[in-house]
Amino acid sequence: MSDSVVKTVGILTSGGDAPGLNAAIRGLCEAGINKYGMKFIGIQNGYKGFENGQCFDIEKKDLENLLVRGGTFLGSTREKPFKNQDIIEKTGLNAVDSIKKYYKKWNLDALVVLGGNGSNTTAGLLSDAGLNVIGLPKTIDNDIVHTDYTFGFQTAVGIATDAIEKIQTTAFSHSRVMVVEVMGHKVGWIGLCSGIAGGADVILLPEIPYDIKSIAKKIRKNHDEGKNYSIVVVSEGALNKEEAKLDKKGLKKARAEMGCSIGSRVAKEIEEATGLETRVTVLGHLQRGGSPNAYDRYMASLFGAAASDYLAKGEFGKILVWQNHKITAIPLVDVAGQVKKVSADESLVKAARGIGISFGD
Ligand code: F6P
Repeated sequence: MSDSVVKTVGILTSGGDAPGLNAAIRGLCEAGINKYGMKFIGIQNGYKGFENGQCFDIEKKDLENLLVRGGTFLGSTREKPFKNQDIIEKTGLNAVDSIKKYYKKWNLDALVVLGGNGSNTTAGLLSDAGLNVIGLPKTIDNDIVHTDYTFGFQTAVGIATDAIEKIQTTAFSHSRVMVVEVMGHKVGWIGLCSGIAGGADVILLPEIPYDIKSIAKKIRKNHDEGKNYSIVVVSEGALNKEEAKLDKKGLKKARAEMGCSIGSRVAKEIEEATGLETRVTVLGHLQRGGSPNAYDRYMASLFGAAASDYLAKGEFGKILVWQNHKITAIPLVDVAGQVKKVSADESLVKAARGIGISFGD
């Protein structure tokens, strides 16, 4: 058994669930127990559960088949304790002081947070408040800065790609334009990767505002070249050039008044601009469902096992990231409040344009 500066470690999952969360927890616990004799406390339902003292001892039997199980066996919420002004009934304290109370009550030496941007921003604030915290980068959006990879992303891309590929046959059969809406409310990584992999003709991303005339031109070009159907992949955060001029508040208001999904709106705009029958499919939470693919299983396992080593060394206040084909750790503050967007000069965007894919711009 190797030396470790920590003995008892709390684990929580926070924000949107993602395939690979359970694999990461399994990697962390198996490595922590086998190499360092650590004890793990599962904190249920993210920061909300932490505030309310919801936890259980993780036993070896709890780790069986976790590798392949989707979602998170700990449960998750989108709770933001530093924004929650309520007094927690169970403790009579505010959210952050309740978390500190349970951190002490459970004799935690450290906390591992598996989360996206918001959850790791909170992890950084808890670190500043004196807790020993390590973050792991989880999100299907792949939008955490300074890491080449977040677990959950590849499985989501695979699900979306499979759906986009399937929709081609009915598009051909009915000479239709098929719109497929994918997740990614601020960034377009899922749309970009699944659009290319699924054979889309048009990909609309939040980062590249579109003009319906440009989309219609591409669809008509398909017809002129003898292709009787078109596939349009739309990120749920996609917007047109007029919307791109709005401020955050204005865009939020415009979206609230839209009364339908962006995919449905784009489908209607296409039908009006081209006169072609157009249908829409919104993939939604399917992209977060099911068992992680092989890549996410081994990447999540790697992140989890590596976290046990950083815990043992007492390297806190950091998030583990994937850079230059290896795991390293950077300060949590370096990812706080930032989002990794698709840039217009991204190599994948250039390759897609070369292949003839339109971004509607
Ligand atoms: O952050 C991951 C994500 O799946 C986004 O792609 C999506 O917009 C959002 O979560 C959906 O949130 P919720 O699960 O709370 O509806």
